[in-house]
Amino acid sequence: MAPMEGLTTRIYRHVFARYYSGVDKCFTPFLSPNQNHSFQKKELDEIDPEINKKIPTVPQILCSVAEHSVWALKEIAELGYREVNFNLGCPSGTVVTKKKGSGFLPFPWEIDAFFDEVFKEADRLQMKISVKTRLGRNDAEEFADVLDVYNKYPFSEVIVHPRIQKDFYREPVRPEWFEYALTHSKNPVCYNGDLFTAEDISGFKEKHPDVDMIMLGRGIIARPFLPEEMTDETKDRRRLKAFHDDLLNAYYEVTHDDHCVLAKMKEVWEHMGPALSVDERTFKSLRKSKRINEYKAITDSIF
Ligand SMILES: Cc1cc2nc3c(=O)[nH]c(=O)nc-3n(C[C@H](O)[C@H](O)[C@H](O)COP(=O)(O)O)c2cc1C
Repeated sequence: MAPMEGLTTRIYRHVFARYYSGVDKCFTPFLSPNQNHSFQKKELDEIDPEINKKIPTVPQILCSVAEHSVWALKEIAELGYREVNFNLGCPSGTVVTKKKGSGFLPFPWEIDAFFDEVFKEADRLQMKISVKTRLGRNDAEEFADVLDVYNKYPFSEVIVHPRIQKDFYREPVRPEWFEYALTHSKNPVCYNGDLFTAEDISGFKEKHPDVDMIMLGRGIIARPFLPEEMTDETKDRRRLKAFHDDLLNAYYEVTHDDHCVLAKMKEVWEHMGPALSVDERTFKSLRKSKRINEYKAITDSIF
């Protein structure tokens, strides 16, 4: 569940957990440590470990001064949290002019110095550090240098919202830059942006079968049952695959003949394929497959 100031509050997260499942992890809306080195009451409430017990929760920090962030890390560690997320994505004008959120992105050398300090402290505290990032402030091209910096550090995840500051939440996402992150990131990558329905998520999973982390924001607010639907579908797919593999083996036990077994299985696929929206190209190669190994590689990719 994405951090959303005013929306995914501790109250929302708490009540959500009473009704729905399917969310592995929540992020708090951003906390803003500053020179006072004390959290506001509202911020302390957000990271109250008692209220965050039901779903693992990661406090998020919005700050580009290492000294204040290091102070916050220690405070958060003392409350028992083992991960902190840094916000390098917020597009709000007042945040960006202070070189925070996506306003930090045009300064990769400063981001580097910042995380150098942060990771030293995180190492000492044995805390995981993740980052939620946009591509850039003015230009998506900024992302190449920013990702080079992220690659210098062992982030537990790099959550990519593929927009620039100026896109706010309106302009279309830039999927080609998410691809860039996938190919160039040395750290695990999580996707965030514009997944509103089960169809959106299935479409994304089809395109990116290797991405196993997605963060949902507005989609959850609109449809709180969405993560549950998706986990059910994943469970169903696993069961279906197990059933299919068992059926294949059972036919093989009887005939020990690839041709006979595949003829039986292909007939089943004539019904199951359309129901699972198998694309035409994959379906064609499945129909043409002659050996069980070849067939299995195709069905594994479908599941
Ligand atoms: C009202 C609102 C508040 C948000 N607050 C935060 C925040 O505190 N921290 C953060 O990293 N992102 C924040 N975001 C961005 C979301 O976490 C998320 O990246 C964005 O909504 C895109 O994902 P979605 O298309 O799944 O909603 C906020 C977005 C909205 C609309």
